[in-house]
Amino acid sequence: MVSAQLLQDHQHLFKAEQGQVLDLACGKGQNGLYLKQHNIDLLFADIQQVHLANLVTHEDVEQSNVWCADFESETQIDAIKLSKMQLQGVIVFRYLHRPLFDALKKSVKPGGFVIYETFTKQNKQFGRPNRDQFLLKESELKSLFKDWEILFYFEGIKHNPDRAVAQIVCQKP
Ligand SMILES: C[S@@+](CC[C@H](N)C(=O)[O-])C[C@H]1O[C@@H](n2cnc3c(N)ncnc32)[C@H](O)[C@@H]1O
Repeated sequence: MVSAQLLQDHQHLFKAEQGQVLDLACGKGQNGLYLKQHNIDLLFADIQQVHLANLVTHEDVEQSNVWCADFESETQIDAIKLSKMQLQGVIVFRYLHRPLFDALKKSVKPGGFVIYETFTKQNKQFGRPNRDQFLLKESELKSLFKDWEILFYFEGIKHNPDRAVAQIVCQKP
């Protein structure tokens, strides 16, 4: 499994002694595992228990480092839990649930980082995801973090595979 280039380019921002990084909606966890190889303390969260079970079984991840969370639940239990964390950072790849941004931003301690990449509306030309609910509008990701220091921003077309994405690397004041 290959981790995202955006993460490889910015992994140096995370430090072993600075606390936990959350791989939010981690799927198979390739991005968090990449950070783990660099001695970063990881928490893997996803709604699909099967992904988390595989991570624990096969990838030298402790049970305490996985979190079966539903970030879209009406009860907001997991969103509230997230908002109370004090994380070194959060990484999010290929996932969007707009109501979660407030909790996500609160979960990062001052000086911590968010690395986020997901699809934009331009992605409709390439296929799925193609529902507006899952696609960022123009400049939306940048605007969601306008009160943070933006260290890197990209919005446009990437290849191999072809996709339209927005990418941000930003630091909480
Ligand atoms: C397209 S995958 C991306 C996985 C991974 N971040 C990656 O880039 O390979 C989206 C992930 O979001 C997770 N997900 C969907 N709805 C969720 C929810 N309500 N709460 C937590 N995770 C959810 C899915 O289980 C899936 O693993």
